[in-house]
Amino acid sequence: MKIETRAVHAGRHIDPATGAVTPPIHLSTTFERGPTGEYPLGYSYSRENNPNRRALEECLADLEGGKEALAFSSGLAVVTAVVQGLQPGDHILAPDDAYYGLRRVVGGVFERWPVEASYVDITDLDAVAAALRPNTRLIWVETPSNPLLRIADLAALARLARAAGPHVMTICDGTFATPVLQRPLEVGIDLVTHSTTKYIGGHSDVIGGALITRHPNYLFERARLAQTYGGAVPSPFDCWLTLRGIGTLPYRVHAQSENAMRVARFLQRHPAVEVVHYPGLEEHPGHRIAARQMSAFGGMLSFQVRGGVETAMGAVARCRLFTRATSLGGAHSLVEHRASVEGPGSKTPQNLIRLSIGLEHPDDLIEDLNQALAG
Ligand SMILES: Cc1ncc(COP(=O)(O)O)c(C=O)c1O
Repeated sequence: MKIETRAVHAGRHIDPATGAVTPPIHLSTTFERGPTGEYPLGYSYSRENNPNRRALEECLADLEGGKEALAFSSGLAVVTAVVQGLQPGDHILAPDDAYYGLRRVVGGVFERWPVEASYVDITDLDAVAAALRPNTRLIWVETPSNPLLRIADLAALARLARAAGPHVMTICDGTFATPVLQRPLEVGIDLVTHSTTKYIGGHSDVIGGALITRHPNYLFERARLAQTYGGAVPSPFDCWLTLRGIGTLPYRVHAQSENAMRVARFLQRHPAVEVVHYPGLEEHPGHRIAARQMSAFGGMLSFQVRGGVETAMGAVARCRLFTRATSLGGAHSLVEHRASVEGPGSKTPQNLIRLSIGLEHPDDLIEDLNQALAG
């Protein structure tokens, strides 16, 4: 079945008690045991499992083409759970332009663990191969990356990790692409993570994260412990909202990709714009790989204005339809001066503006950017 159909049906069951088509929200924290101590319906306590979480996990595993999925309380709770699965002294190879929260978890939360980390240009396969160490256990990939929209070659990285030995696993943060546009597990990546806060939830009203695995492995099992024993769980309502959002995911993401392409082409021609980072543009250095591994190019783009921080901040300040806010993947288009969101130590260029393209009409979005860039 096609992904549009699975997005509507996977994980959904008619409620046997009432016939409800939309699933009820199971707020009960505890579930009745049978007379001999068993749990006849498979649920005991909501941190361990919950019908809404199970439905969401079934759906996520199905959409991603994975063996199993785990839903977490946030995207960064997934990052924490995965890194926690490594031994102290293990080494992670990660992109030098990864979502800044990854560095904060590795360097901050795990400061006293510690794990070793090298940040490399993950689009450069020779640099990745050269950075491998005997204690490398995980190659972290994020494609397209946040906020520079760089494209990593998933199939090549999976091959490189396999050649390094079975102790080197790969994980792809596919938040920008969603399972609708990109299928990392099908090209040999071991694990996929998403901040479901973004496109998967899709309405900027629920924080969540997901981890999906291609095969049984120790990192996934340890993440399960962080979820069920450690308690990094989403609430039943969070799961319900996220699953509700998924029904429209393929159509939203395709509309957002079309809108983003229109906006990218407009920005590319604008005299106030130095460079546009959007993998759908032929000039983008990762375009060829993106065209092979993605079915469309997504709703995220960033661009650099001619000038410095003040010029960029000025353009952001003049936006009327785009909302000045962080995050991405919802119906509203959002604009942000990314370096100031990331704070001190950010490597993001000071003249970079990041856009999350929503579901408004692209003509209106272009008109807004046109007046904002006019100064
Ligand atoms: C690519 C990417 N991964 C992970 C995260 C973290 O997700 P959350 O905010 O749900 O913890 C974000 C958040 O912006 C992100 O953009």
